[in-house]
Amino acid sequence: MEEHLSVGRVAELAGVSVRTLHHYDGIGLVRPSARTAAGYRAYAAGDVERLREVLAYRRLGFGLSEIADLVDDPATDTVARLRRLRGLLVEQRDRTAAMVAGIDKELEARAMGFRTTPEEQLRVFGAELYEEIGTAYPATRRTEPRIAERIWEALGDARTVLNVGAGTGSYEPTDREVTAVEPSAVMRAQRPAGAAPCVAAGAESLPFEDQSFDAAMAVSTIHHWPDPVAGLREMRRVARRVVVFTYDASTPGWLDRFWLTRDYLPEFGGLLTGWPSMADLTEAIGGRAEPVLIPWDCADGFFEAHWRRPEAYLEEHVRRAVSVWTRVGPEAEQRAVARLRADLGSGHWAEHNRDLVALDAAELGLRLLVA
Ligand SMILES: C[S@@+](CC[C@H](N)C(=O)[O-])C[C@H]1O[C@@H](n2cnc3c(N)ncnc32)[C@H](O)[C@@H]1O
Repeated sequence: MEEHLSVGRVAELAGVSVRTLHHYDGIGLVRPSARTAAGYRAYAAGDVERLREVLAYRRLGFGLSEIADLVDDPATDTVARLRRLRGLLVEQRDRTAAMVAGIDKELEARAMGFRTTPEEQLRVFGAELYEEIGTAYPATRRTEPRIAERIWEALGDARTVLNVGAGTGSYEPTDREVTAVEPSAVMRAQRPAGAAPCVAAGAESLPFEDQSFDAAMAVSTIHHWPDPVAGLREMRRVARRVVVFTYDASTPGWLDRFWLTRDYLPEFGGLLTGWPSMADLTEAIGGRAEPVLIPWDCADGFFEAHWRRPEAYLEEHVRRAVSVWTRVGPEAEQRAVARLRADLGSGHWAEHNRDLVALDAAELGLRLLVA
């Protein structure tokens, strides 16, 4: 017979209060599904399994509503969820160890009368944005085959490829030996089983010898790097060939290329203040920039992907997988979405953007840098 545990026994074993368990029950997060002989609620094996997962995510600092999404995720089975959890826990352990090492270093430096630099003090906390938004990423972000084709062609005959800012592994070629670099634990934990090995590091300081790869690639990531030029130089240093998919924010009128930033979200411009020019970026790798048109049915849900499918931007899960929406802040986001919803309803959007219907691909400033 299956063993059932009382609320008190579960609380004792798990080291949480009975009140916490009642709260989880009340909000539907973990419901004890069994009954004792006396009619009291009791935890069956499946309930305990779910509670174990919830408590682990709690320890990792996730909020209850995020946890509900994670444990109810219909796309993953128990083993996949345990793998994701394990990855996050291992990462937290490593991150804590790195922080302890950082503090030890600072104590040592202070004892000798030195001060660590602000950069050194902050480095251990890097990639916070994707710790926040990363779990929403796989819902809409995936390889767009037509863009992948361009990237893989630009990789030429490279056999060993470094993918910097690799995220969950989109665009990684399967017919070459890939090594991934990704600073965010949340993103690393979501790499599918069998994905290329992934190293925890930032682009600005790649832990590899000079020229150790045939090629290095970076897709939709360099705008997140604290110092993109330094990161590109690092790619150049470790690889003979460099391929980067990025965004041109230096051509005059760049904010007006896309109706979303032109008419609804001008705050996008503020995010790229101080962003290096195309010339600076191409110079950092010693290469050239080629335009990449975005197909109307682009499979990878990046910011510009839905340019001919405006209703998509009304969807919360579409926005959550794109850092722009988190970076502009909730006020700008809500205003932009409300205005777009109204314009779609009134026909104003369709009228103002009627030329788009005839286009199968659009030039929205996406570029492939190749060196
Ligand atoms: C929009 S995602 C792109 C992921 C993947 N390349 C793709 O195309 O799906 C941006 C990624 O850049 C990573 N990132 C942020 N700062 C970074 C840095 N300094 N060096 C390398 N990657 C970084 C983020 O953690 C995130 O996974």
